[in-house]
Amino acid sequence: MRATPASPAEHPEAGQADREDLLARHRESLFPSVGLFYDEPIELRSGEGQIVRDGDGREYLDFFGGIATVSSGHAIPEINEPIKKQLDRISHSSTLFLIRSQIELAERLRQMTPPALNKVFFTNSGTEANEAAFLITTLNRNSNELIALRHSYHGRSFATINASGQTPWRSSTLSPLQTHYVGNPYCYRCPWGKTYPSCDLFCADDVEAVIQTTTSGNPAAFIAEPIQGVGGFVTPPPEYFVRVGEILRRYGIPFISDEVQTAWGRIGVADFGFQAYGIEPDVVVFAKGLANGIPIGGVIATDELAQSIRSLSLSTFGGNPISTTAALANLNYIATNNLRDNARDVGGYMQDRLRELAERWHAIGDIRGLGLMIGVELVKDRDSKEPDADLVLRVQDEAKRRGLIVGRGGLYANTLRICPPMIVTRSDVDTAIEILDTSIERVSRAQRP
Ligand SMILES: Cc1ncc(COP(=O)(O)O)c(C=O)c1O
Repeated sequence: MRATPASPAEHPEAGQADREDLLARHRESLFPSVGLFYDEPIELRSGEGQIVRDGDGREYLDFFGGIATVSSGHAIPEINEPIKKQLDRISHSSTLFLIRSQIELAERLRQMTPPALNKVFFTNSGTEANEAAFLITTLNRNSNELIALRHSYHGRSFATINASGQTPWRSSTLSPLQTHYVGNPYCYRCPWGKTYPSCDLFCADDVEAVIQTTTSGNPAAFIAEPIQGVGGFVTPPPEYFVRVGEILRRYGIPFISDEVQTAWGRIGVADFGFQAYGIEPDVVVFAKGLANGIPIGGVIATDELAQSIRSLSLSTFGGNPISTTAALANLNYIATNNLRDNARDVGGYMQDRLRELAERWHAIGDIRGLGLMIGVELVKDRDSKEPDADLVLRVQDEAKRRGLIVGRGGLYANTLRICPPMIVTRSDVDTAIEILDTSIERVSRAQRP
């Protein structure tokens, strides 16, 4: 056990020795299940807008935004100033007292969502938010059955692990829920080998088949991410959720829209994924980008579902003054600066530029997403579509060396995930494309025998 380390501000030395020391201390003191990016992991010590700097002062264009969480940008004065002021006034009182910013944020969320959604419960993370959604729907429907999509990710608690359809993230199979999985609308790798649109949305109809064959007939809810985040930005065809919504309505099953990655305008065409797909949820789950990096999560649900909790319930930190002040400031910043429109414009431009790249590099098998939520799937061969997870690792590492941070994900770990702060520009995209192009070239050359 080492002495308590100083904070980065008190510990400004840079260089490889410091990096290696930090990594060794990380490995000594933190859970090994929490992975790190890169052969040589880095500390991001500061940031400004879409730029971040590591411990050596090296700058990177941030095209990952701390997993789609730094929604507006780093160190934005219009967001940070209100947080600092709130910190100096009062940082915590608990939910046993009135919290002005919490009430204002709940009102704001009601304005942004359909009229039937009018009760909010705040949490500290997406996992807890999904737990709250499961609690109200299972109580309301007197059922512990859930329908979820394969390749989904909903969190790291017992219930949410077991609502997640990806083995690499399923550390335990102990669950309070009985989850039934439906095939996901993953057109590039259709679970049934079909092709859109001649498939006539076989995947959506599978929801009805699963209800009819594997459930008691009374599932508590159906949960889905409008675009699967950790699953590799798998983007359903436009009519998928409309068809699923019709099925759910016929059976009276509530729809939980897990918007932890898709909300606040990131997808460009709408504030939330459910709006883009033309479906009205009964519960919307949110977290990540709401407060631009300050921890927050929650649900907004119908009155009926919110009333399902008959005993007492609270979250000590849920909706606390700091996180809700940050969320309000961030939503204001997104609206004032039209960041949703920017996400649509710059995201569309990025997809166009990536398609040009795909003409050069046959390792690019699929490009998908909406707005600034873009997945690029790398494959060994376009015909076989064999996933190339190793290439993703090398491209990600090489891009980092050249000053670009991108994420990765997907069940086969072969998808580059691009989800920058929404202030990025077309010129940033040009820089990112140039770096990706050179990185693919470099690692492809290195791979040749
Ligand atoms: C769609 C989705 N739901 C829920 C979660 C869990 O959120 P958290 O990590 O804040 O618990 C995540 C996290 O990546 C997510 O992407």
